[in-house]
Amino acid sequence: MTTVAVPVRAGAHAYPSATPTPVRLALLGVGQVGGALAALVARPPLSHQFHVESGLVRDLARERPGAEHLQLTANLRHALGGQPQPQIVIEALGGIEPALTLVLTALERGIPVVTANKSLLAAHGDVLIDAAGRAGVPLRYEAAVLAGVPFLGTFARRALARDITGFCGIVNGTTNFMLSRMAAGRTGFAEALAEAQRKGYAEPDPANDVNGVDAVEKLAVLLRHFGDWSVRTQDVDAQGIAAIEGDDLAAAVEFGGTLKSIVAADWREGSLSAFSGPSFLSDSHPLARVNGVQNAVSLRNRLSGDLFFAGAGAGPDVTAATLLDDAAEMCGETPRAEAPRTWKRATPSAPATGWFVRVSGDRLPADTSIADLCSAYGVWLRRTSEPRGDAPGRRWFLTHPCAPSQIADALRALESAAGCDTFRARILEA
Ligand code: NAP
Ligand code: HSE
Repeated sequence: MTTVAVPVRAGAHAYPSATPTPVRLALLGVGQVGGALAALVARPPLSHQFHVESGLVRDLARERPGAEHLQLTANLRHALGGQPQPQIVIEALGGIEPALTLVLTALERGIPVVTANKSLLAAHGDVLIDAAGRAGVPLRYEAAVLAGVPFLGTFARRALARDITGFCGIVNGTTNFMLSRMAAGRTGFAEALAEAQRKGYAEPDPANDVNGVDAVEKLAVLLRHFGDWSVRTQDVDAQGIAAIEGDDLAAAVEFGGTLKSIVAADWREGSLSAFSGPSFLSDSHPLARVNGVQNAVSLRNRLSGDLFFAGAGAGPDVTAATLLDDAAEMCGETPRAEAPRTWKRATPSAPATGWFVRVSGDRLPADTSIADLCSAYGVWLRRTSEPRGDAPGRRWFLTHPCAPSQIADALRALESAAGCDTFRARILEA
């Protein structure tokens, strides 16, 4: 890591301090998260510490329970407030624009920024962190990954603790909530998604949760934060959860594990490998016990081994609380400037792993024939499921580790030879 604390240069921003008058906030976005934040700030004792001076929205006519007291604007030119300018900007808009322009403008004006926007950070984190460093102004994004768990900032001043060489984690609350519901046999896919949306866990466009975009964005944020890696989200080997069915979750239980949506990365040897998508975990894996909207990240530290952080991954109230904690922390801080970071631009390779495979068809070959065909492509089966009366025409197996191209070739050959369909998920070893 190249982040080093250096003495603040002349003219660097003076942080707002805890004073008898409330800290002036400009709130960008008064939706699920911004609305929860406005409601939180309206109540004592936080109402004595913060005052939301303005809220940016698209639709001024929309009802906003809990945020009726806010001074709203839909005019981007007024979003960062008037004079005196706000002491902290809280960005809860989502997406790239206008968030990018507003955050950059705030930093250039010397206003500290707190954001929960992983899409923005994934795509433009280099530019934003560099701009904040140049201006000597803090940019905090604790709520962008594991929304309710403050852990990113833990590493700011701990050079040995942040010597991380990889991680794995469950970083999307919506899909972990859905898979947990489906695994418990309580709901199907569509109902589980609708419930996650009602609870405010899902993205404004929930397709980003289901198709894995949100998880890949968080992977990119973690890679930049812990490894100075700058990756394009489209360069990550990624998969969503839409192809997972109730039968797959039952088969995973039969194999002594579960299916979770996982992000993982490794740079122990210097080069970067990473993936994101559904994965089979045996019950002994610490992530296998992370259920519902809970998320978790296990960071591999060079000196102290695995560091495990877990807690609420999504939800308007927990996210609002983390955003406000970021803001409160800025108020009590001594000014610091950061030395420029050197970003390592990389296209992660897709690692070799074991695979959890489902094969479906009317006339499936015997397990031994499937094993023979797969072995011709360097894919070796290590377990096969027992025949199941409730899932005729379906079988599942676990493979030994092999490259993504090998499993893809083997399953393509199997589909063509046996006229069957296949689904695969990675195996995350404990
Ligand atoms: P949301 O409910 O859709 O709220 C977005 C807000 O931004 C709305 O008030 C919207 O105005 C406003 N907005 C969007 N585009 C705008 C534009 N072009 N001009 C003016 N206003 C605009 O989204 P959310 O769920 O609160 O998420 C906000 C951010 O928090 C996202 O980055 C999300 O990824 C992140 N986040 C969410 C959670 C969670 O649990 N929900 C957790 C962690 C992080 P209108 O209300 O008028 O449409
Ligand atoms: N939609 C996101 C999730 C919100 O479900 O994890 C938290 O980033």
